[in-house]
Amino acid sequence: MYKSGYIVDPSSTVSCYDQHAALYDRYQQTVVPHYQTALDMVALTYGRYVRPGGRVLDLGCGTGNASAALLRADPNARIFLLDGSAEMVEIASGKISALAPHSLAGKAVADLGIPGWDRGLEPGYDAIISSLVLEHLPFSTHRDVIGGCRRLLRPGGWLIAMEGYREDDSDMLEWFFAQMEERRRGLDPQLSDFVAELREKKEVHHYSSKRQKEEWWRKAGLEGVAVLWQYLCLALMAGRRPEER
Ligand SMILES: C[S@@+](CC[C@H](N)C(=O)[O-])C[C@H]1O[C@@H](n2cnc3c(N)ncnc32)[C@H](O)[C@@H]1O
Repeated sequence: MYKSGYIVDPSSTVSCYDQHAALYDRYQQTVVPHYQTALDMVALTYGRYVRPGGRVLDLGCGTGNASAALLRADPNARIFLLDGSAEMVEIASGKISALAPHSLAGKAVADLGIPGWDRGLEPGYDAIISSLVLEHLPFSTHRDVIGGCRRLLRPGGWLIAMEGYREDDSDMLEWFFAQMEERRRGLDPQLSDFVAELREKKEVHHYSSKRQKEEWWRKAGLEGVAVLWQYLCLALMAGRRPEER
């Protein structure tokens, strides 16, 4: 499948999301514990640190749910959507256009694992938000992408990212997954099994500790890095590009 200059590997995480984009919202809202709370926390963090009407990049926008939550906090935000899945970007741009047509500043299909993913993006973002995406990147890619985010932010701009973590000696991930399994019963079994099997087969995660990622963010040149919210393995980290003196 040829999309905006790159071919989606049919065995990849991005291809998994391409294949179930239309079912994503029903699955995610029902199955992922505190999914909406997590998105609302992204929006709340944005509201605390970023002035209204900010320029925002939604990195790995999926169907646009983090941007939609953010727009409820700041209806004048101007949002650029980016995801590796063209299907996801299409759904997200439809959702954001319907919510607030003037808010959609642009969209791109790009794989964060391919250098040049940020080509064409105009630096100076007030915030970059990313929810449940960075955990899919191998660690070296994660570090490169955080460096790219720093370059794209304006001085004083914020990176706000929600993702899954693994901590030594804790079963927080297993506990979270057990809750997902339990909640799957709330869905039509055909839909639930289709998505769960697809994710099982194709989705790749790279979990690390919060301390490890905090260190990578600081080394990339972000400051004020802190975890601001957590539910089991799901946590929100924020950090800003230092002001220029
Ligand atoms: C669990 S969904 C999260 C979507 C959305 N941010 C949300 O909170 O609902 C993960 C998203 O990350 C995207 N993704 C995963 N790996 C990616 C990569 N290497 N480059 C770009 N997007 C990627 C997928 O296509 C998918 O839309």
